Amino acid sequence: MFRTHTCNDITIENSDEEVVLSGWVHRRRDHGGLIFIDLRDRYGLTQIVSDPEKYTDAHSLMNTVRSEFVVKIKGTVRKRPEGQENDKLNTGKIEVLVTEMEVLNSSKTPPFEIDQDKEVGEDIRLTYRYLDLRRERLKNNMILRSRVIKHIRDYFDSEDFLEIETPILIKGTPEGSREYIVPSRIYPGTFYVLPQSPQQLKQLLMIAGFDKYFQIARCFRDEDQRGDRQPEFTQLDVEMSFVTEDEIMTLNEKVLIELVEKFAPDKTIKTKPFPVLTYDEAMNRYGSDSPDLRFDFEIVDITDVCRECGFGVFKNAVDAGGIVKALKIEGGGKFSRKEIDEFTEMAKIYGAKGLAYIIVEKDELRSPIVKFFEKSEIDEIMKITDAKEGDIIFFTADKFSIACESLGKVRVAVAKKLELLDDNLFAFCWVKDFPMFELDDETGSLSAVHHPFTRPKNVDDLESSPETSLALAYDIVLNGVEVGGGSIRIHEESVQKRVFDILGISDEDAEHRFGHMLGAFQYGAPPHGGIAWGLDRLVMLFANEPNIREVIAFPKDQRAKDLMLGAPSTMPDTQLEDLGIKIDIKKK
Ligand code: AMO
Ligand code: AMP
Repeated sequence: MFRTHTCNDITIENSDEEVVLSGWVHRRRDHGGLIFIDLRDRYGLTQIVSDPEKYTDAHSLMNTVRSEFVVKIKGTVRKRPEGQENDKLNTGKIEVLVTEMEVLNSSKTPPFEIDQDKEVGEDIRLTYRYLDLRRERLKNNMILRSRVIKHIRDYFDSEDFLEIETPILIKGTPEGSREYIVPSRIYPGTFYVLPQSPQQLKQLLMIAGFDKYFQIARCFRDEDQRGDRQPEFTQLDVEMSFVTEDEIMTLNEKVLIELVEKFAPDKTIKTKPFPVLTYDEAMNRYGSDSPDLRFDFEIVDITDVCRECGFGVFKNAVDAGGIVKALKIEGGGKFSRKEIDEFTEMAKIYGAKGLAYIIVEKDELRSPIVKFFEKSEIDEIMKITDAKEGDIIFFTADKFSIACESLGKVRVAVAKKLELLDDNLFAFCWVKDFPMFELDDETGSLSAVHHPFTRPKNVDDLESSPETSLALAYDIVLNGVEVGGGSIRIHEESVQKRVFDILGISDEDAEHRFGHMLGAFQYGAPPHGGIAWGLDRLVMLFANEPNIREVIAFPKDQRAKDLMLGAPSTMPDTQLEDLGIKIDIKKK
């Protein structure tokens, strides 16, 4: 028998019992002949101690073992001497006097310390992920993730949902990212595609009559990596038939609140029920379709004041059909020149041509732009922004998306600078009424903002003004992170064809790529809709982690590499020949 208890089990109640424990040597201390080891397993730590006189063999072995050796011990539980207790440990009142010991395996000196939460280079951590996962922080993240998923499964099960797996080797999914492709050996020259999400399959499950589906689903997207993106990530994927947008939102909101209460009890949910913003409101007021509502700064519109103003930059922007946006920061008058320059750079990254500002001082306005305005215009700006002495107002003038977005980024950067991003506050919101389509500036063609299966709010005016057409789509946002998104779907072949048409997908192409969907819609497809959460992102926020790699057991690095396995890698020629693949890499 390897163990009678785990390393977190034994308490004072077990005094004098004989126990067997197996685990890793976490820390070893030599106290003038007595050797103490903290023995570790996934559950916790137990202090074990040698007796050099009575149990010489065990003592000698305890002398030779080093960090991360795997050992099995037999011993007797005893109360720790007065003053030696450790309140932080479950087992902190006892220790085990070792009578027998066996070394189950030795260990090289690990490349970083397992017993400490020190900064370690991420490449090393990812290369030795199996050691990184032994550390407290990642271990706890994995436990949290597992429990969150278990709760989700129980919740959806109790609501009559079925968990149904969908295939990983499929045909293209038009979700906007580049796809990972898998060559077929049996049909050389053809390829499977890894799903960007189970979107089409879950819709087909609705057509199959499973009116409530969910899945903890792996998704694959070949896109540039960021802190909250991985090439391979996990969704909670949900789809329902005979359901409205509100019903889907309510169901999801309920389980999100449960999860926070259960797994992040130290977090306060800022507003319940979650506020619902339209996309237009979110962009106009917060400069983002995933606004961080932990703090209040609101962006206002001063386009009308600038229509005839003397500041060429603003007037020209308005003349060109753009807008002027203003953001007042209470007490922001204290920002230094350098800080204002940093905010300006931030705005420029997001396309702004500059970031004008006005600092409100006791008797004057300090600003590079006030001189271009009439007093009445300035008065109006002060009124709209409600600016007072000590405040700063930032401005962006540009086309709608850039003016809003760049000022939205400044909004968050300012909040960060002012230390207003409270980790213990959870500000959820729903954003809905997204545009159906967006114009690709480069190609001049329209693409779907959510995905092409999303239902337009108003089916009738689809063709007359696709640019202003709204979608029955919604995102769930937490602290400025889009943690989920979904929509009501199209269930009629004719409407789906019209949407493909607007997207510039020819009948022939639609038949080739989505014939299975169009075909299925002809056999009594029920009205349906759903949502998918970015599960990694949600757990990341629950765990106060800065990026999703910290909540994924074996993530890829920033350049989509698995440093531990060494993937991607080359393939033996014979394997490539089987697939009819010849490598012809042009030197970049
Ligand atoms: P969407 O593409 O918005 O919708 O994805 C849903 C959620 O998945 C998360 N997410 C990611 N997480 C980590 N790494 C990535 N690369 C990544 N990409 C997306 C986000 C996002 O909100 N089929 C639709 C859902 C539906 O309509 O039901 C879909 O996949 O948190
Ligand atoms: P300039 O006239 O270029 O010296 O700019 C005067 C101020 O206006 C500077 O603070 C610029 O950062 C700012 N600015 C320039 N272009 C824009 C713009 N499109 N939107 C907002 N501010 C701008």
